[in-house]
Amino acid sequence: MVVCGLVEARVAVLASGTGTNLQALLDDDAVGPRVVLVVSDRREAGALRRASAAGVRAVHLDPGDHASRDAYDMALLDLLRRERIDLVCLAGFMRILSPPIVRAFEGRMLNVHPSLLPSFRGAHAPRDALAWGARVTGATVHFVDEEVDHGPIIAQEAVPVLEGDDEADLHARIQEVEHRLYPRAVRLWLEGRLVVEGRRVRIREGAVP
Ligand code: GRF
Repeated sequence: MVVCGLVEARVAVLASGTGTNLQALLDDDAVGPRVVLVVSDRREAGALRRASAAGVRAVHLDPGDHASRDAYDMALLDLLRRERIDLVCLAGFMRILSPPIVRAFEGRMLNVHPSLLPSFRGAHAPRDALAWGARVTGATVHFVDEEVDHGPIIAQEAVPVLEGDDEADLHARIQEVEHRLYPRAVRLWLEGRLVVEGRRVRIREGAVP
């Protein structure tokens, strides 16, 4: 059993893209003030601009500066340690993290994924749900473990696939849900209300988040 949480946590967000999930975290009254670091592998990531606009340290960690994935992940781990990060939130970070960094943050690393896991793992979940003909997909927030899109699930919400949806339409509706679900899940972590029992995550009683 692993109990997580630390109200005064220092939170890092890792993002490669536009950073709308980062923004949702920054805009949350409980989570936003805890975000002290944003890291991206892409210099032009909107997430870095959003971090700077919010007065949060924004770091471009360039894969081109590192000889291998392991070297990159060691540099990232070193940065997270130097910044005394307690919780890492992946928010559209398009790199698979290697076991040492995942293990270093066991129970302290979360991810948001645009499907109802375990369906449609991987980088193109809305596209894959459409191609499969699914009637319902959704969003998942989960702990990160050593397999991709696999760790214990904290929160999920369904999103219907509508007639005429294309990938962008569907992803946009899923993201609306993500922007509610992710801050709520991070708040539960900060409040120490998530209890991991094997694959299951129990949410302890507490003030309604
Ligand atoms: C989100 O849909 C998230 O589920 C996936 O990547 C996307 C990132 O979007 N992992 P954004 O950069 O937060 O707008």
